[in-house]
Amino acid sequence: MFSRAINNSTKIALSIPQFANELFALTDQNRSMLRQWLPWLDNTLEPKDTRNFISQQLAQFAQSKALHTTLFHHGNIAGVLAFNSIDSSNKTGHIGYWLGADFHGKGIMTECVKDLMEIGEKYFSLQRFEIRCAVENTKSRAIPERLGFKEEGTLRRVEKVNELWYDHVVYGKLTNKLAPH
Ligand SMILES: CC(C)(COP(=O)(O)OP(=O)(O)OC[C@H]1O[C@@H](n2cnc3c(N)ncnc32)[C@H](O)[C@@H]1OP(=O)(O)O)[C@@H](O)C(=O)NCCC(=O)NCCS
Repeated sequence: MFSRAINNSTKIALSIPQFANELFALTDQNRSMLRQWLPWLDNTLEPKDTRNFISQQLAQFAQSKALHTTLFHHGNIAGVLAFNSIDSSNKTGHIGYWLGADFHGKGIMTECVKDLMEIGEKYFSLQRFEIRCAVENTKSRAIPERLGFKEEGTLRRVEKVNELWYDHVVYGKLTNKLAPH
């Protein structure tokens, strides 16, 4: 429901609270891997935390301020891909993502991010996409690099994850033409 096929094996669907149990289970299985890079794991301790987060994101979606999608691979939840925020004044989408470890190394996320940008351009008239990655997060950085983003600079000591401070590389990609509205 409310989904978009990426290819024969992968789809993304608007995240709804009904996905929370399965999405939380995947989060829990991958907790230590995700916790290295994402700051919210210690606040996501039971399915209701995932459910609440999805509900908040849906409220943001209703105001065109975010788009949180759940990624399915062969019918199972494999991860998350989102416009964590949409700046509608400046027509910019801030992209975030994660995948369960069983789904790494297959090119799934790179392909889905490409598709999300098409959605952003077509339905939200976005003209700029931004991805921020910790300097050390080479797997995450490889995604914008594969998709032709430009490395625009580094924000110093901008995020604390697990008591460690990280610098972020900012990647930006512009659409070929500006949307008319
Ligand atoms: C970031 C993350 C989603 C990247 O996962 P990933 O599997 O490397 O990314 P993709 O799905 O795009 O797959 C790319 C890999 O598949 C391989 N691949 C296979 N077929 C491919 C194809 N058709 N196209 C592109 N890559 C392909 C690539 O070579 C690459 O593997 P490599 O790194 O061993 O070279 C994952 O590492 C993750 O969830 N990390 C934790 C959360 C996180 O850091 N989020 C980002 C915060 S900024």
